Amino acid sequence: MNRFIEFEAKVEAIKARCTNGEISETERDAILRQTQLRDEQWGDIWLLSPKGQWFRKANGSTSWIADYPVLLVDPTTMPAVAEMDAHQIARAVHDCTNCPLHAERRRAVPGEGPVPTDIMLIGEGPGSHEDQQARPFVGASGKLLEELLGNIGKKRTEVFIANVIKCRPPGNRDPLPDELAACRNYLDRQLELVNPKVIVTLGRFSMARYFPGASISKIHGQPKRVGDRLVVPMFHPAAALRNPNWRPLLIEDFRRLPEFIKEAASFHKETVISTEQISLL
Ligand code: URA
Repeated sequence: MNRFIEFEAKVEAIKARCTNGEISETERDAILRQTQLRDEQWGDIWLLSPKGQWFRKANGSTSWIADYPVLLVDPTTMPAVAEMDAHQIARAVHDCTNCPLHAERRRAVPGEGPVPTDIMLIGEGPGSHEDQQARPFVGASGKLLEELLGNIGKKRTEVFIANVIKCRPPGNRDPLPDELAACRNYLDRQLELVNPKVIVTLGRFSMARYFPGASISKIHGQPKRVGDRLVVPMFHPAAALRNPNWRPLLIEDFRRLPEFIKEAASFHKETVISTEQISLL
């Protein structure tokens, strides 16, 4: 029996004790917070909130993030990538062997964040910390990213963060064209699902998707309309940490994001959520 399914049943039993009047809502919530599941394979800790939202504390991290256990996605009934939902993408990436990078990764990093949402940040690929935690941008670049988001009143959990490549290239080398191609379908589908008004490219490889041959020092912070979105190229946070001249430029570009979201709202087509979907939320 899948341990996550067993865990769901345990949580349901605790919630039922509250519905029956045996325990109060406060007691239920306290019990649920203490009812945690340790993932034996990765050392992550999971919990399931009273509202049915899964949270994960990755091995090596101190923060809880909303996530979904890939082991609850049935790998035998997966549609084509172009039809997957966000959980199926995470499972497919987790199991992916489409390029040689899978052989050396510890963990694949699908990306994280709400679906849909206004902003999607696209970085390059996992480094060592990301490869350990299966989360994007958790090292020094991630800290800077959180600071930049904080400057515009956004939390990291309000934006979707992904990379052009889902597995760490050995020694953090640049991804090869075949490796980028092997990940492309996943990112394309994530973009459809997240349906952001604004895409921020962070680094050369995500910039090249939209601005082939461009130089970041010439075009950073200048949005381009692509379909019903704006794409804004920005310096990679790691580059801004290395080069003190670029950091203020990155800060300034980030500060203009609310303005870009407003501009894109005038032509962006929102995701239509059916009443049937709403009742499942
Ligand atoms: N740099 C990236 O481009 N992506 C990450 O996830 C981490 C560092």
